Amino acid sequence: MRLRKIKGAMELLRSHDDIVVLNPTEYYGRWSELFGNSNPINIEIGCGKGKFVYEMAIKNPNINFIAIEKYDSVLIKALRKFINNNIDNVKLVLFDAFELENIFDKEVENLYLNFSDPWPKAKHAKRRLTHANFLKQYKNIINNAIIFKTDNLDLFNYSIESMTDFGMVILEKTNDLHSLDVENTMTEFEKKFSEQGIKINRLVARFEKDEG
Ligand SMILES: C[S@@+](CC[C@H](N)C(=O)[O-])C[C@H]1O[C@@H](n2cnc3c(N)ncnc32)[C@H](O)[C@@H]1O
Repeated sequence: MRLRKIKGAMELLRSHDDIVVLNPTEYYGRWSELFGNSNPINIEIGCGKGKFVYEMAIKNPNINFIAIEKYDSVLIKALRKFINNNIDNVKLVLFDAFELENIFDKEVENLYLNFSDPWPKAKHAKRRLTHANFLKQYKNIINNAIIFKTDNLDLFNYSIESMTDFGMVILEKTNDLHSLDVENTMTEFEKKFSEQGIKINRLVARFEKDEG
């Protein structure tokens, strides 16, 4: 996806260093220190305009959220939701998830992947956020689960196969999330797709079976 550069985006991000982290490798292994508490840390990769993380942070004040986005022109839209709102359990990180292992030790509880880019061409499969190369990184940083939502059935089925081949356990799976009576926070893309009548797929997966 090509994005229009927005003049002044980096300056805006820089001027809100209470919310935005532009040097995330420096917090490897010590994100809790940055939040100033030992609450669980959940991350979202590809947060887009930030609706999901904004609402989740308000609903769950005892969980810390780190929202990662690779484009500055997109991250400023998320940032605008947080400016002057006194939400202290969110950090916005400008970073490409290809190098996720450089910013986290095994210090993340859950990972949210919401409406990740599908990269439909086989030659781009390695860019899908549920490709084995990403799962390998997630395994080193996540303690609990991956929660994945998408409108794209091909990507959903690919992800189930990729996770299963990797030895992950699929704990929950649905092809019509909104037909279920479960707590759900909608993302921007989810709202847009479901308003068009498109069904939302969701899965929850873990790296190992629960021994308990
Ligand atoms: C289709 S949008 C979905 C946005 C939002 N999660 C939602 O559901 O409304 C995917 C977002 O992921 C971001 N993204 C894609 N690959 C990424 C990567 N490797 N690292 C960080 N962000 C990424 C894109 O820039 C884009 O903003």
